[in-house]
Amino acid sequence: MYAIGNDHTGVDLKEIIKKHLEEKGVEVKDFGTQSRSASDYPLIAEELAKSVASGECEAGILICGTGVGVSIAANKVKGIRACCCSEPFSAKLSKMHNDSNVLCIGARVVGSELAKMIVDEWFNAEYEGGRHARRVGMISDIEEKYMK
Ligand code: RB5
Repeated sequence: MYAIGNDHTGVDLKEIIKKHLEEKGVEVKDFGTQSRSASDYPLIAEELAKSVASGECEAGILICGTGVGVSIAANKVKGIRACCCSEPFSAKLSKMHNDSNVLCIGARVVGSELAKMIVDEWFNAEYEGGRHARRVGMISDIEEKYMK
């Protein structure tokens, strides 16, 4: 199951991406918001990140205006490797090399067709492990050191 969440800026893009994932047969848990009234992106990012870190959801997609706020917030949850991507190449490599488990997209930055391409590249990519595993392990070591 994939998690999806957004603030008020990402309601429309969330629906588009959710439908896109569901059309691939992916089960999606929606963390909201469904409202266009101002909402606080850290709250949504935290709830979604917890569901990924706990294993309830395999991975997640977060949307805010730039994708930046939700990525910073999600990365505060231990075990989360959230990446903010505005193009497909970085999204793909973030999975292959960095084992990213949360993809963040800016609804005010990318259009819906580009967003779907970003999601597809990320979704279809696989973590390569190997030489990258040591470096991803080093990221976990930083968490162990500073996230008490
Ligand atoms: C909301 O206006 C905006 O700050 C938020 O969506 C996001 O872009 C923050 O990083």
